[in-house]
Amino acid sequence: MRVAIIGAGPSGLAQLRAFQSAQEKGCEIPELVCYEKQADWGGLWNYTWRTGLDQHGEPVHGSMYRYLWSNGPKECLEFADYTFEEHFGKPIASYPPREVLWDYIKGRVEKADVRKYIRFNCPVRQITFSEATEQFTVVAHDHVSNVITTEIYDHVIVASGHFSTPNVPEFAGFEQFSGRILHAHDFRDALEFRGQDVLLVGSSYSAEDIGSQCYKYGARSITTSYRTRPMGFAFPDNWEEKPLLLKVDGNTAYFKDGTSRRVDAIILCTGYLHHFPFLDESLRLKTNNRMWPLNLYQGVVWESNPKLFYLGMQDQWYTFNMFDAQAWYVRDVLLGRIALPDQAAMRQDSQAWRDREETLDSDESMIVFQGDYVRTLIEQTDYPRFDIDGVNKTFFMWEEHKHENLMTFRDYSYRSLMTGTMAPRHHTRWLEAIDDSLEAYLTEPEERSTSAPARQPAKAV
Ligand SMILES: Cc1cc2nc3c(=O)[nH]c(=O)nc-3n(C[C@H](O)[C@H](O)[C@H](O)COP(=O)(O)OP(=O)(O)OC[C@H]3O[C@@H](n4cnc5c(N)ncnc54)[C@H](O)[C@@H]3O)c2cc1C
Ligand SMILES: NC(=O)c1ccc[n+]([C@@H]2O[C@H](COP(=O)([O-])OP(=O)(O)OC[C@H]3O[C@@H](n4cnc5c(N)ncnc54)[C@H](OP(=O)(O)O)[C@@H]3O)[C@@H](O)[C@H]2O)c1
Repeated sequence: MRVAIIGAGPSGLAQLRAFQSAQEKGCEIPELVCYEKQADWGGLWNYTWRTGLDQHGEPVHGSMYRYLWSNGPKECLEFADYTFEEHFGKPIASYPPREVLWDYIKGRVEKADVRKYIRFNCPVRQITFSEATEQFTVVAHDHVSNVITTEIYDHVIVASGHFSTPNVPEFAGFEQFSGRILHAHDFRDALEFRGQDVLLVGSSYSAEDIGSQCYKYGARSITTSYRTRPMGFAFPDNWEEKPLLLKVDGNTAYFKDGTSRRVDAIILCTGYLHHFPFLDESLRLKTNNRMWPLNLYQGVVWESNPKLFYLGMQDQWYTFNMFDAQAWYVRDVLLGRIALPDQAAMRQDSQAWRDREETLDSDESMIVFQGDYVRTLIEQTDYPRFDIDGVNKTFFMWEEHKHENLMTFRDYSYRSLMTGTMAPRHHTRWLEAIDDSLEAYLTEPEERSTSAPARQPAKAV
């Protein structure tokens, strides 16, 4: 059996680790090929300075930016089979910056020795399915050898992410605007906006965090503009929230409530598209960003053709350990340990989740919903059990702390649901922590100011 995995981000890597963990226990696993269009693993966590097209002329996948810190407690995303303490050799604080989380993601898969399955610099161009042979044809561009490859697989697992292709609306007057207009996908460094009046369109995580970044790194003022629901935080004095942008005229932005203001730059924090240009029409998931996309049994099995799977396609409260739960489930379907019901039963089951999704009316209810989903998957596999109610409660505390003060919520610490260890407080408050490097995060400032060599993260062995 040959299995193609598209993408070596957290979801694709979870899939490789899931198979390796079965192999470690003596199970024979299929032949695996993981295609990754970037030169390294980690998906969005593998930061790139590039925007637009990459060195091969491919659309840049990365949407992460400099100084990005986890926007939720690390205790909510911790792998149940590889804890932060195991990786770093000591407890660390609750909101690590990107580089620290990337290091953690890499540690588990280095330990599992799964890099050998990945073909880097290898974007998948096309995937089709033959009804006659019941196999997939995967066409990829290997940029290392500059050869287009065509290979046959029995199963395909799509783990290409859905926070990479920007959703870019246009507002009247954009063509004449004299400042910079960009989407959050292309935002890289808040210092670019130092001293400027910045307008952000959107009221979700990108708007919240890019606004916070601009504040932290010295923008003169921040205006956020919402379409449906204001964020409603107690913002700093130079941050104002307004209803939807209607138009811009010169450098003046006009809003739905009749107010206006002069702005230097506009950042569209307007979300992303589920975009799978490489998938044949019959295989392509079409959805907006939501908790329960339809047509995916148990959130992962393509109901019209259960030889195809998707990972990580839901909107995300849970992340890394949810991708694990999904990957372990898909693995067990492929290993014949889980039998799938017929299509009608799959659709009925998905519809029941969708019906429940439609009743969700608060962040808390969405967290509980996703926790229940993760639990449902884990109970069907040998993924280590963990305290999902405890994770939900940690999410609730996080929400509370964010609403208390957007600029200080990252200074809180939480208890690991995997080890029971309470995270230490970070040595520097988030608002004052300008250096977001792994070295700065893991080392006390006084240790760094001496001539002692910087502490390296514990190497995974
Ligand atoms: C700005 C931003 C900040 C975030 N911050 C957090 C956070 O703080 N905490 C958190 O838990 N989550 C965060 N997330 C959510 C994020 O989606 C997940 O953490 C995680 O990266 C999703 O993993 P994934 O593997 O599903 O997708 P991705 O990380 O997007 O990885 C997909 C991989 O597929 C590859 N790929 C895509 N197309 C192809 C192709 N055609 N051929 C071959 N390879 C392909 C890509 O190169 C990439 O490596 C953030 C997301 C964004 C956009
Ligand atoms: N670590 C971090 O700090 C960090 C930072 C940034 C992002 N992230 C992650 O990135 C992911 C994506 O977040 P996101 O905020 O980019 O996307 P998102 O959650 O999908 O939100 C999209 C936002 O854009 C708005 N929008 C969409 N189309 C619009 C239009 N035509 N006009 C006006 N507004 C429009 C939506 O408003 P409506 O409500 O009206 O639809 C919504 O507010 C999340 O998983 C998040 O956790 C994390």
